[in-house]
Amino acid sequence: MANFTLPPLPYSYDALEPHIDARTMEIHHTKHHQAYTDGLNKALGGLGPEWQSKNDVIDVLKNIDSVPENAKGAVNFHGGGYNNHALFWNSMKKGGGGEPDGELANAIKKAFGSFNDFKTKFQTDSVAIQGSGWGWLVKNSSGGVQFITMPNQTSPWTRWNKEKLVPLLGLDVWEHAYYLKYQNKRADYVTAWWNVVNWDEVKKRFQQA
Ligand SMILES: [Fe+2]
Repeated sequence: MANFTLPPLPYSYDALEPHIDARTMEIHHTKHHQAYTDGLNKALGGLGPEWQSKNDVIDVLKNIDSVPENAKGAVNFHGGGYNNHALFWNSMKKGGGGEPDGELANAIKKAFGSFNDFKTKFQTDSVAIQGSGWGWLVKNSSGGVQFITMPNQTSPWTRWNKEKLVPLLGLDVWEHAYYLKYQNKRADYVTAWWNVVNWDEVKKRFQQA
């Protein structure tokens, strides 16, 4: 049996109030993220010892094409959900928001024109995702940044072998991320979410990528 565990939330459930409410955070972390954790362990647990012994989910996602067909879909979904949510929690904080400076700011300006143009693109295209998925700012193989959307829980890491994309900042637009507080108003959730983005963490990922 693979042995992934639910990563702790790096702040309290009410830390992101009023932008993201405590009840949503608690259910999102203890129910949804836990379910992806359990699902990943179960999917890998049905495979041979070389998969059961994996302890680096990013390594698993980068090599999704090597996962046996009978488990590939489940590993893609639950492994993606496991890593996406860990990234998500860490890219938010109480008193976040604003905009980055330094090299990341320059890369955003180069790719999108300005920080405001980036925000507009990120928000518009994330809100427009049909059904469930994620909007992502990623670093590409040229060292620049770009915006992509990914369906369901499929991770940007699964595009590693072809495109060498590194996820920097992801936005969960599944209804479970916002429905209790915002109901059908996904755009209002995204507008509020900008206030909790942890740009120091995103800058760190950009520098380390
Ligand atoms: Fe989620």
